[in-house]
Amino acid sequence: MRLNGEFSPPGDKSISHRIALMSVLAERECRLTNCSSGADVRSSLEAVRNLGVQVRTEGDQIHIVGAGGRIPDSARIDCGNSGTTMRLLMGILAGRAGDFILDGDGSLRRRPMERVALPLRNMGATIETHNGNCPVRIQGGSLKGIEYELPVASAQLKSAVLLAGIQAHGITTVREPAPSRDHTERLLKDWGARISGTAGEFRVERSGLTLPESFRVPGDISSASFFLCAATIIEGSEVAAEGVLLNPTRAGFLEVLQRMGAQMEIETRGDAPEPWGRVTARFSADLSGCRIRAEEIPTLVDEVPILALVATRAQGTTVFEGAGELRIKETDRLAAVASQLGLMGAKIVAEGDRLVIEGPTALKAPQRLQSFGDHRMAMTLRLAGILTDSEPLIEDEESTAISYPEFHETLKRLLR
Ligand code: S3P
Repeated sequence: MRLNGEFSPPGDKSISHRIALMSVLAERECRLTNCSSGADVRSSLEAVRNLGVQVRTEGDQIHIVGAGGRIPDSARIDCGNSGTTMRLLMGILAGRAGDFILDGDGSLRRRPMERVALPLRNMGATIETHNGNCPVRIQGGSLKGIEYELPVASAQLKSAVLLAGIQAHGITTVREPAPSRDHTERLLKDWGARISGTAGEFRVERSGLTLPESFRVPGDISSASFFLCAATIIEGSEVAAEGVLLNPTRAGFLEVLQRMGAQMEIETRGDAPEPWGRVTARFSADLSGCRIRAEEIPTLVDEVPILALVATRAQGTTVFEGAGELRIKETDRLAAVASQLGLMGAKIVAEGDRLVIEGPTALKAPQRLQSFGDHRMAMTLRLAGILTDSEPLIEDEESTAISYPEFHETLKRLLR
C-alpha cells in the first residue's frame, strides 16, 4: 500500500477556535469560510453561542455576529475535549462581570488549568479550579495589566493572558521562553487591538475588536502533517497538501523532515490572512535521525507522535528534547507513543521530557493498539498500520473526529 494524490485538510483548528472565541469580545459580522470541521471547534462555536454570539451556518460558510462583550452574567459551558476552548475562554471571561463555569470531558478534567488561573488572578479575576483542573469557576470583572513571564511556551496560556489584557486597565506584557503559535497576536492586530512586540514578547492595551467582513481559514497544517509524514516513509508514496497554513510558528515539523533528508517541496501561494500554500512530500529512502531542540518543540508540538513514527524509519538516533508539555495533552503523548510504537517493535523510550528513537526498525503488524482517546495518537497509529500493510484494531479510533473528521475518507482516497 502507498499514498498518492492531492488533498485539502479541514480549516486550521487553532485559527478557527480563535475566530469563534474572540467573537465574544468583537463587534460586527463576519462570513467565515473553511472553518475547521472538527468536534473541538464545534465546542467553541457552541460555547460562544451560549455567550450571545450569533452563529449561523449557510452552506459552506459560517455567519458570525460578534457579541461585543455584551454577554449574559452567568453561564455554564461545556468545552468537551477542547483545551483551547477552555483556556482561551478563561482569559476572555476573566474580564467580563459575571459568574461562569467551564467544564469538559474526562480527558479535559485531567488537564492543568491552574497555570492559566494564576496570571488571571494576578490581574484581578476570581478563579477557582477543582484541584487544579476543571470545572473552573470564573468571577470576572475589572482587570489590571500585568507583566507576565510564561513558565512554559504555551500558546493557550499566552492567548488567555493577552485576551484578558485587552480588557484590562494599563499595559499587559507577555514574555515566553520560546515562540509558540502566534495566531492570537495576528488576529488581535488585524481586528484593531493595540498590540506591539515581536516573537517572544508582546504588549497589549485595553482595546475593542472589530471582526473582518470575511475570513478564509487556511487548511490545517497539523492535520496535513499525518499524510505528509507518512508519505516520506511509505514506499512509492507522493502526496500534496493544498491550501495549507505555512505560519513558521506551526511549520517546525517541515523543517525537521527536511533535516532528516525527506524529499519535499514547499510553495508559498499567499500571505493573507496568514502564510499559506502547497506542500508536496514523497517517499525518501535515506532518512537520518536528528536532534530536535527544546526551543523547536512549540513549533511542532502536535506533530511529535507522527514525527516519532517517521523516526522509526530513519538511520540513527532521533531525540526530542524538552518535550514535557506532551505529557499533559489529551493523553500523555510521550508515554502513549512510546508504548504503542514499542508494541510494534520500535526502539523508542520516553524518559522525563525526552523521547528517544533508534532507527531504522522494520515495524511489525500489530493486532490491537490503543489511542487513549487521543485524536493525534489515533491518526498516527492508523498510518503506522498502513506502513506495515495491516489494519489493526485501534481502540477509540473515532477520536480522529476531534480535529479531522474526514481523515479516514481522505486516507481511503489516497491509498493505492
Ligand atoms: C494550541 C496550542 C498548543 C497545541 C494545541 C492547540 C492552540 O497547546 O498543543 O493543540 O491553539 O493554542 P499549548 O499552548 O498548551 O502548547
